[in-house]
Amino acid sequence: MSTFGLQSVEPALAEAVLAGLEQVEASLRQAARADDPFIDEAANYLLNAGGKRFRPMLTLLASQLGNGVNDEVVESAVAVELVHLASLYHDDVMDEAPRRRGAESANTRWTNTIAILTGDFLFARSSEVLADLGPEAVRIQAQTFARLVEGQIRETVGPSDGADAVAHHLGVLADKTGVLIATACRYGAMFAGCSADVTEALRNYGEAIGIAFQIADDILDIASPGDVSGKTPGTDLREGVMTLPMLLVEAAQLESDAALRALLGRPLQDDAEHAEALALLRENPAMRMARDTARQWAATAAEALAPIRAALAADMVAADADSPSLQRRQAALSALLALCDDVVDRVA
Ligand code: IPE
Ligand code: IPE
Ligand code: MG
Ligand code: MG
Repeated sequence: MSTFGLQSVEPALAEAVLAGLEQVEASLRQAARADDPFIDEAANYLLNAGGKRFRPMLTLLASQLGNGVNDEVVESAVAVELVHLASLYHDDVMDEAPRRRGAESANTRWTNTIAILTGDFLFARSSEVLADLGPEAVRIQAQTFARLVEGQIRETVGPSDGADAVAHHLGVLADKTGVLIATACRYGAMFAGCSADVTEALRNYGEAIGIAFQIADDILDIASPGDVSGKTPGTDLREGVMTLPMLLVEAAQLESDAALRALLGRPLQDDAEHAEALALLRENPAMRMARDTARQWAATAAEALAPIRAALAADMVAADADSPSLQRRQAALSALLALCDDVVDRVA
């Protein structure tokens, strides 16, 4: 299993999170099961192909700021990953993406129809898992899912005339990616008995780190030399999807970028045009500016943890600083902070 984000985590904490991830994995398989052999295969397809399990890992880490992992924490992580997984089936149809998680995308392997319906099936399974966690969790998922879909729609439609395209884009990222990562953190805190303040801080952290994560992912789509992401590099350029580096090129309106600008914002089916756009974009200063923006969102995520740091410091004074529970919370806080660097270092 991928240990993205767990490289520098304190050993006891890493062990607890990895044990939780094993439970998540078993429960994911259970949730994706279907009696019909074909549906079973299609629903387990991307699950088996790989994935970082970034969102479940965050749920488990967030729980360590409260009472730690329990069944509800695990099941809420499963529900979040199922929403993510389902959204990938749908996203690859929208983006006409040929590869996902190092394998053919479901739309390529079968058809758009199968990919869409399998995504729907997994959304349904996520709701079923959440039903056991109570109406509050179901409401949060419904609101989260609505925002995710709003983000995907707003990305497809684009900014209205005269609107700031970069601001619109950052709003899209908060919606399509940030909110689900925020909910992953929020559930972990909620079901581990964290206070409302800590839960809210983790939610804010999740949304900001989610934006940084998506910007890094979009940079990787352009910058990754080979297929390190398990996806087909240059898919956004191919589809004419404007990501942050491209929007920054547009916004700068430099004479020297005229050739590149002529290739942006429209599908590039011609291989020579696609290669040219990729080469020009890779060496454009907008790539560094986009990295800086990702760093800023990662810094915003780190700042969102301030109330947790303050509460922990107060508890350290009031109680025995060596107590296992305070040590665990301290380690979890450090891990969440380190993650702010990790998400951006992917594209350093
Ligand atoms: C991909 O998410 C879609 C984005 C929001 C960037 P991940 O990078 O978490 O994908 P997997 O789960 O590891 O495949
Ligand atoms: C993925 O957006 C966001 C959701 C699935 C909601 P992208 O289209 O940018 O992600 P990748 O690059 O295909 O993973
Ligand atoms: Mg996509
Ligand atoms: Mg997309």
